[in-house]
Amino acid sequence: MLGGRLLHGGDYNPDQWLAYPEVFEEDLRLMKEANVNSVSLGIFAWASLEPEEGRYELDWLDHIITRLGGEDIQVVLATPSGAMPHWLTQKYPEVMQVQADGKKNLPGKRHNFCYTSPVMREKTAAIDRELSRRFGKRKNAILWHISNELGGNFGDSTCHCELCQKAFREWLKEKYGTLDNLNRAWWNHFWSHTYTDWEQIHSPGPLGEMTSTALVVDWRRFSTNQISDFCEMEIRAVREESDLPATTNFMDFFKGLDYNRLKKGLDVISWDSYPFWHEQRDEVPVAVRTAANHSVMRALKKAPFLLMESTPSSISWRNNNPLKRPGMHMLSSMQAIAHGSDSVQYFQWRKGRGGYEKFHGAVLDHKNGSNTRTFREVSEVGARLEALSKNVEGTVNRPKAAIIFDWENWWALEDTQGPRLDLDYVECVLSHYRAFWEKGIEADLINMDADLTGYQVVSAPLNYMYKSGYEDRVRKFVSDGGVFVTTFFSGMVNETDLCFTEHHPLEDVFGIVPEEIDAPTEDFENYFVYEGTRYPARKMCEIVHAKKGTEVLSVYERDFYAGAPAVIQNAYGDGAAYYLAAESDDLFLRTFYDTVFKKADLKNALGTELPYGVTVTERTGVDGDRGIVFVMNFRNEPVCVEGTGEWTDTESGEVYKGKLELEPFECLVLK
Ligand code: GLA
Ligand code: ZN
Repeated sequence: MLGGRLLHGGDYNPDQWLAYPEVFEEDLRLMKEANVNSVSLGIFAWASLEPEEGRYELDWLDHIITRLGGEDIQVVLATPSGAMPHWLTQKYPEVMQVQADGKKNLPGKRHNFCYTSPVMREKTAAIDRELSRRFGKRKNAILWHISNELGGNFGDSTCHCELCQKAFREWLKEKYGTLDNLNRAWWNHFWSHTYTDWEQIHSPGPLGEMTSTALVVDWRRFSTNQISDFCEMEIRAVREESDLPATTNFMDFFKGLDYNRLKKGLDVISWDSYPFWHEQRDEVPVAVRTAANHSVMRALKKAPFLLMESTPSSISWRNNNPLKRPGMHMLSSMQAIAHGSDSVQYFQWRKGRGGYEKFHGAVLDHKNGSNTRTFREVSEVGARLEALSKNVEGTVNRPKAAIIFDWENWWALEDTQGPRLDLDYVECVLSHYRAFWEKGIEADLINMDADLTGYQVVSAPLNYMYKSGYEDRVRKFVSDGGVFVTTFFSGMVNETDLCFTEHHPLEDVFGIVPEEIDAPTEDFENYFVYEGTRYPARKMCEIVHAKKGTEVLSVYERDFYAGAPAVIQNAYGDGAAYYLAAESDDLFLRTFYDTVFKKADLKNALGTELPYGVTVTERTGVDGDRGIVFVMNFRNEPVCVEGTGEWTDTESGEVYKGKLELEPFECLVLK
């Protein structure tokens, strides 16, 4: 655990207030009152740290770090590359991104620099080194926060400038060796797309090539690599004078960047969570999405992560920005801890008076000091985290189930022309994850390269692409006794979007021969019966044939494929594999996963059925010891969980026998 405690605090931007020293004095006093024990400093402060090229002004930051240290407040040291100072863009226009249509950005905004530009790299490394020399060994410094939300530039996260084009071609040469290999891998003899010179290759864009999925997917891989390389360059720069671990803040299901690549250079995973609570009365879909995000972050390193940013009240960038209702701030903060976070941090400590984000929720509002509902709820979270630190230290969630969530699959699936154009990978993964969440069965969200050993259940919804080596790992997983689930439109293509020919790569494991895929409209909705209940088969209905010995659990009710298998189970080695040929609904998935969890003998930490809106997670020590269980009620009304056995509340000491009663939006932490 960083700094030996659960961190509570967040982005602190005193560079906006340097002309008002009394504000800093008030900040220090109120941070103590809010039980803040750590702040992130210097994100976006480049213009204050280096007002002119090569002239560094670090004294103000030094003073702040020292005074914070005096109050036992730890600091996360940020590098400022998230936003460029005007002197930089004015003198070196090459640092500004070029859009996919070839238009060069004008100065301003943020997160919009070219990741390839040697000037950008040199100037960034210079300020990073300066910061590290001065602060990298400070006693209260605990972590490097590299840049900010890398790739997150209001839409396209990549740069299409000439420097990037050149780097892309070099990257492709390295990958494919010859143009011949590339042309074959990308199927370029279609539409005369055959390249005869590397210089003919250009990044995908609206004015040029967007029709080659293989190009688009490789461009996304290249951009991920370029951004990761930039991040690693920054880490090397700060490491010259400092041994502190490094992180960079990730985002909610961010398609632009494969975090499995970016994670490699990082010591700690962190992310910024801004769920749309209270968008609807039923908070479950939002709770599910947030839990899934936490599980992606935890699974990246199978270790505790940091909730680097969250809002203590509302966000400001959607059409409607509801306030967090009383109790939701505590619950959503506890949800992060429950899924493996070792912190609850905010954007930001104090609302700015002006600028784009002046109405985004912060711990301190423009007025009323500490006398606000938000401030009181934040202070309560801080106090609770402090009390929980000892119990949580050294623990993390160690699920026995996993769901495959793979960026490369995501890119290829959604860019390809197929039976439907509206396939939404994240929505599909979330619909499966929801069934796990509702049962209180935790799952890691892992990519196709991950090791499957140790899991009892692995589910791979819409697993369109099979990356090399994957099918062997799945085959071994099932033959060793694992239970594996997949859906329609799986095992279709390899890593460059070339279709598999002859047979489905895991035909033996699933016991099927897939033939056609229908994409019916609502008028042609189909049905199947599963365990006595009729469910819809819609949107994607794959027509497969069961091999001899394969168990058909449901068949289509209608159309020319009436009687064909819709739900299939196959025994393979010591394990079992399930194939869901059709898309259905949440009710079906809930019932279906009951079968799966029974088959794998998986139960939640309470060993009982959970009422709607309630879920449960567990964090344990390395040997599965010191288990603490989090029970969360996402309903704004009291609920009762029956049949739980005996539990002690780690906070109140109360003993519960056989049942748990939870208040609206309550989270209990039990032993
Ligand atoms: C992101 C950024 C922050 C801030 C918040 C506001 O997470 O990292 O700088 O803009 O969003 O929602
Ligand atoms: Zn560029």
